[in-house]
Amino acid sequence: MTTEKPDCTSILLGVSGGIAAYKSAEIVRLLKKRGFDVKVVLTENGARFIGAETLAALSGHQVYTEMFARSRSEYIGHIALSDWADMLLVAPATANIIGKFANGIADDLLSTVFLSCDCPVLIAPAMNVRMYSHRVVQENIEKLGRLGAAFVGPDTGELACGSSGRGRMSQPEAIVDEVASMAKHGKDLAGLSILVSAGPTREMIDPVRFISNRSTGKMGIAIARAAAARGAKVTLVAGPCAVELPSAVEVVNVTSAEQMRDAIIDALPKHQVLIMTAAVADYTPAQPLSQKIKKGESSLSLELVRTSDILVDVSELRAKDQVIIGFAAETENLLDNARKKLAAKGLDMIVANDVSRADSGFGVATIAATLLWPDGRQKEVPLSTKDELANAILSEVIALRTP
Ligand code: CTP
Repeated sequence: MTTEKPDCTSILLGVSGGIAAYKSAEIVRLLKKRGFDVKVVLTENGARFIGAETLAALSGHQVYTEMFARSRSEYIGHIALSDWADMLLVAPATANIIGKFANGIADDLLSTVFLSCDCPVLIAPAMNVRMYSHRVVQENIEKLGRLGAAFVGPDTGELACGSSGRGRMSQPEAIVDEVASMAKHGKDLAGLSILVSAGPTREMIDPVRFISNRSTGKMGIAIARAAAARGAKVTLVAGPCAVELPSAVEVVNVTSAEQMRDAIIDALPKHQVLIMTAAVADYTPAQPLSQKIKKGESSLSLELVRTSDILVDVSELRAKDQVIIGFAAETENLLDNARKKLAAKGLDMIVANDVSRADSGFGVATIAATLLWPDGRQKEVPLSTKDELANAILSEVIALRTP
């Protein structure tokens, strides 16, 4: 399996005063695990929620809390910290610290470090839903976004104050994924709109039974998440997936192959790239029944009819400059079958994967694949995580769009 060695290695983590500050310990642990060096700046209010000793032990560095330290040996200026940082991550970021950043107020170490940083900045907001939706906070976020700061979350869910809504800090794994992606790729897909399909489809036999397949949606979701992290505007057409859908993308939920076709054809003109990861049913019951089928003594035959091949339909409707990528799920003759699909569906690239392998394909976290192009080129992607394959595919999207 490949491990992504980050090009940027020094992450300065700012922790401000919200209940989500307790999750900053996990963020430090996960960043260290991925090979980043981490130093922490803890605000006075942040220190009410998490101990500096915990963060010092996990990061392996002293934790910086004050602008003016008591002794010379504890002192490190804000300029030295911002010089050290390859990236400033602020998690959790309260409405207060976001307000200070947006308005140039530098009255503590973290806000002063922010003003003196010229490295990329990633902010993970966490606050009450009403505070988050307040015009002032939204304007501050917009302003920081315009000035180049990136945001991860917040997510929607139950909040510590007892209410629920948008305001919960993103999960540490999602924040660290975002850091890793920014470190490696930056926002190299900014300005691109990408349509991704994911998951299985379900073809109803009667009101309680359906025909489906083993797809969980993991691969398509990994592509959608990675594309959004790299700055693309993403629409995800999702069949009934077994895993949580990402929050940073527009989701269109569908069930059947016909609904997936309609959703893709409808969204296609607004996107420059289509990546069809979904395992679309090729057959559907000729006559789905409105009442549950009762069992009898004899055997039962079901008549199935063909569904539309979405990629074939797309190949007739696509604009010349659109990039269309398909997947080939095979159990035998992997490359031959994939090449036939590449040609028959008029694709710019196909991702061939052997779904009979236990360590690659449906439901598992890893995947091995071969990328194939119409000009006969091919490239192996050795067994990697689905996130790694997603990033490899997206890097090829950039190459395909470069004349
Ligand atoms: N696909 C599609 N519409 C379908 C079936 C598949 O657009 N009705 C797309 C898939 O999303 C994938 C590619 O076509 O990107 C290949 O899908 P796959 O299931 O590997 O092959 P099929 O074309 O269905 O052919 P077969 O099942 O015979 O291997």
